[in-house]
Amino acid sequence: MDLFEYQARDLFEKHGVPVLKAQVATTPEEAKKAAEELGGGVVVVKSQVKIGGRGKAGGVKVAKNPDEAEARAKEILGLDIKGHITKKVMIAEGADIAEEYYFSVLLDRSNRTYLAMCSKEGGMEIEQLAVERPEALAKIPVNAIDGIDDAKAKEIAEAAGFDAETAAKVAPVLTSLWTVFEKEDATLVEVNPLVKTGAGDILALDGKVSLDENADFRHPDHEELRDIDAEDPLELKAKELDLNYVKLDGEVGIIGNGAGLVMSTLDVVAYAGEKHDKVKPANFLDIGGGASAEVMANGLDVILGDDQVKAVFVNVFGGITACDEVARGIVKALEILGDQATKPLVVRLDGNNVEEGRAILAEAAHPLVTQVDTMDGGADKAAELAAAK
Ligand SMILES: Nc1ncnc2c1ncn2[C@@H]1O[C@H](COP(=O)(O)OP(=O)(O)O)[C@@H](O)[C@H]1O
Ligand SMILES: [Mg+2]
Repeated sequence: MDLFEYQARDLFEKHGVPVLKAQVATTPEEAKKAAEELGGGVVVVKSQVKIGGRGKAGGVKVAKNPDEAEARAKEILGLDIKGHITKKVMIAEGADIAEEYYFSVLLDRSNRTYLAMCSKEGGMEIEQLAVERPEALAKIPVNAIDGIDDAKAKEIAEAAGFDAETAAKVAPVLTSLWTVFEKEDATLVEVNPLVKTGAGDILALDGKVSLDENADFRHPDHEELRDIDAEDPLELKAKELDLNYVKLDGEVGIIGNGAGLVMSTLDVVAYAGEKHDKVKPANFLDIGGGASAEVMANGLDVILGDDQVKAVFVNVFGGITACDEVARGIVKALEILGDQATKPLVVRLDGNNVEEGRAILAEAAHPLVTQVDTMDGGADKAAELAAAK
């Protein structure tokens, strides 16, 4: 999960990274009030969108007093930055910037380690610097056990080419940023720019943090960092029901067991759709092993709640999951859903206890259910039914 800058700033502050005072505002009036509360002096009004390059796009503006802050907020609220509409601004104290640096630490999957990157030349687009003058961007692997301790911070600062005095000031900020990375279970912490002020202080002026959602169980407080407004309502509902669901843009609802099988089901449905009015898969939904009637009902409930869905393909290969269990699940799910179930269901069962499973569905003889023998046949039938609607 990517955070807004103001949320990253809060985490920085919590772990001792030097940041400037700031407040969030959703209206120009609130922005004015925030500027007053910050002392009435120079502030910076910053668009809060989850995309970089806000400065260049006109989303970061200086205001000399609270009235100007109100005017700048008026300009920035609603501003579209690369497709992201600004709904909030952050009002931050203005910094007296002498130099702009770059620092990040991230999960380096290809090398199975963490990687710190640091440069004396921050502020600009770092991707460009990395391509044009890679020697100006120090890259130092960071061991997961030791992290960025004093010695590692010194090594990074020296590799970036800071003079001894600046390196001594930057290093402790790097260890604090590592604390953010480790304690919050982040996969990315980036500061661009990390600045030196006229007075010689080091400050994190911008912050990008991505949190590892697999570690959410350790962080009940991360729940409130979610941007519920921006989440798809069906995905939100699926998450509440503990389902592995991703909304896609097609007409054929998909339910399968096992991520690999569901992925291939998406492929065969997309392929079959070529012949049937170009219909496409409407979602990814993996109900996992040992799917109970309740899980099946929840899955169907989410998929049938998608107005775009015209037909559903249930593709189950019984391994640990027995097909008769799944068949009972489907029958029960249709019972639970009653009149809410209105779209045709194509079911392909194979594997463990397939005969029993097919017999259960045949006996139930639900008018919406069509059984098929093969995955390709099922994909074709579901695409055909979706196209016919
Ligand atoms: N609080 C601040 N005081 C002074 N200048 C700032 C402040 N915050 C940002 N800036 C300036 O604006 C530039 C862009 O802001 P930044 O937060 O990095 O947004 P982005 O990376 O999305 O463009 C920074 O490089 C810095 O020069
Ligand atoms: Mg920046």
